[in-house]
Amino acid sequence: MTTQIAEIQGAYDASGKEKARALQTIYVYEAPVRLWHWVNALCILVLCISGYFIGSPLPSVPGEASNNFLMGYIRFTHFAAGQTLIVFFLFRLYWAFVGNAYSRQLFILPVWNKTWLWGVIYEAKWYAFLVKDPKKYIGHNPLAHIAMFTFMLFLVFMMISGMALYSEGTGQTSWQYKLFGWVFSIFPNSQDIHTWHHLGMWAIVTFVVVHVYAAVREDILSRQSMISSMVSGERLFRDDLKD
Ligand code: HEM
Ligand code: HEM
Repeated sequence: MTTQIAEIQGAYDASGKEKARALQTIYVYEAPVRLWHWVNALCILVLCISGYFIGSPLPSVPGEASNNFLMGYIRFTHFAAGQTLIVFFLFRLYWAFVGNAYSRQLFILPVWNKTWLWGVIYEAKWYAFLVKDPKKYIGHNPLAHIAMFTFMLFLVFMMISGMALYSEGTGQTSWQYKLFGWVFSIFPNSQDIHTWHHLGMWAIVTFVVVHVYAAVREDILSRQSMISSMVSGERLFRDDLKD
């Protein structure tokens, strides 16, 4: 009876032998890349929420002003998450030099490679449901690659503009001002930096929404693992069955 059920479920082949499906997996995302991905995602979540409240503070809180430190806590949370983000970014940059080939993808767009360029067009059609068959990629597909590279440019902008705003608080003799004070020669009015830093947040929010949609969609439609690959590091190609 148990065997019959197992056979129905496909655990045995016709000759009664146990059937193990040989699916191909490739180790792609090393542990430091995965650690960075999730810490970075968490920092960005905290930065977007705290940053939103820095830009649009809550109505004044009741009671004696000196008894309230709500905005102080919100700003502290923002600065702590911002500096954690920067430390992990530097770590991720270091890993691009010492890690595997896929750890470098995020920082280099192979625009000189014709196959890659055709891949961008194919993937655009695939995301628009205009072609039927997904292509297989061990690392990022070309369109995702462009999105992630662009996201990194925005991230660098947010770190530089954020540190410039932070240096206004620490003062002109601080190391923060020595390193990032040059931003004020581009935007002499710091309100402009606030505005661009704020707009940068919405660009990043847009990336995250599209990114999570694409990760879930690809996990289901592309016949390759996605979300679990950013957890285990391994990409599974579901169609490479060898009975
Ligand atoms: C994804 C990354 C980040 C997001 C989404 C973000 C978002 C925001 C937003 C929306 C504001 C309010 C701007 C306004 O309307 O005035 C803000 C302010 C600020 N952010 Fe960020 N930020 C990020 C990264 C950083 C980083 C890395 C730092 C560096 C420590 C930083 C430091 C600051 C500072 C100093 C302010 C001004 C605080 C104030 O005037 O009270 N931010 N951020
Ligand atoms: C603030 C939120 C997030 C940001 C900023 C972000 C950013 C990124 C970046 C930059 C990469 C490239 C990693 C590298 O090459 O080192 C990546 C990969 C990836 N992310 Fe996220 N991510 C976020 C949240 C998420 C969430 C919530 C999920 C799951 C639903 C997810 C799933 C993935 C997957 C599956 C990959 C690998 C895609 C591939 O294999 O081509 N991410 N993400």
